[in-house]
Amino acid sequence: MSFFKIRTIALTAAFAGIAGTAAFAQTEVKIGYALAPTSHYGVAAQKWQEIVEAETDGKFAFRHFPSSGLGGEREVVEGLQIGTVEATIVSTGTLSNFVPETGVTDIPFLFRDLGHARRVLDGPIGQDILSKFDDAGLVALAWGEQGFRHITNNRNAIHTPDDVAGMKLRTMENPVHLAAFNALGAAPTPMAWPEVISSLQQGTIDGQENPLSVIVSVKLDEVQEYLTLSGHVYSPAMLLVSRPFWEGLSDEDKAAFEKGATEAVTAMRAFVDDVEQSGVETLKERGMEVNELSADEKAAFRASVEEAYEGYYDQYGQELIDSIAATE
Ligand code: PAF
Repeated sequence: MSFFKIRTIALTAAFAGIAGTAAFAQTEVKIGYALAPTSHYGVAAQKWQEIVEAETDGKFAFRHFPSSGLGGEREVVEGLQIGTVEATIVSTGTLSNFVPETGVTDIPFLFRDLGHARRVLDGPIGQDILSKFDDAGLVALAWGEQGFRHITNNRNAIHTPDDVAGMKLRTMENPVHLAAFNALGAAPTPMAWPEVISSLQQGTIDGQENPLSVIVSVKLDEVQEYLTLSGHVYSPAMLLVSRPFWEGLSDEDKAAFEKGATEAVTAMRAFVDDVEQSGVETLKERGMEVNELSADEKAAFRASVEEAYEGYYDQYGQELIDSIAATE
């Protein structure tokens, strides 16, 4: 209990002729995430809160810090480790810096579609990765998602790997992504998310890559001209809780957080399904020039990152990578 703040909310009940005071203690759950309350992150966080509140009769008071209100994703995860933040929904951008095994899910052109990714992450491979977070002072409750990542930029439309040659593309601080963009011949610039919009505005980077869920939600069309539907990599997310916080919970409370996380993922995936359908039209209406890589164009990108695969095999094992690819 010493790791988290107890907020006492005094409820005063006044009845005719009787002045009575009832008080109950609510445990505050600070939840930090990178995007707006209306994004897939916000929707998931809201659902998580609703379920925990319903299951515990309001014992926990969620306090939301959307839009990187607690800093970049790395700082938020560090906050969980030391117990100053209780929960987060976070991309895998930074997670392989905490649990290296996570990086296998960031390999480009590994997942075929959303269904494939969800089956792998909900199955034994994904669940095994979640269990590795125990040793990092974190409790990983479930895999969420953002969708497939696409490239936006202000330099030119992209059809071939040559079109990204030397392009200053912001990547997440993620060695797996970095290796792929280096292999492609781009000039990848790893950067924490809170710096990205101003860097695009100032022109210190040409572009970035993120799923439609993010591009629509943060209105990247206001600072980016071209959108190439490259779908070069699936972008998982994770629902994490601070271990010091978790250890103070009863079994019933833990079950409520687990149930909330499962339902939050369902809400998050439904949101992503929806924006994958509607997002391109929205961005065209907002003025972006959009092109989608054809199957042949995509194959050329896949071939260009082949050399990065040697490093991925060394790090994660070819057997694991092949078994993800072979998952039906
Ligand atoms: O690009 C990133 O860093 C992530 O996709 C984001 C936007 C912070 C969401 O987790």
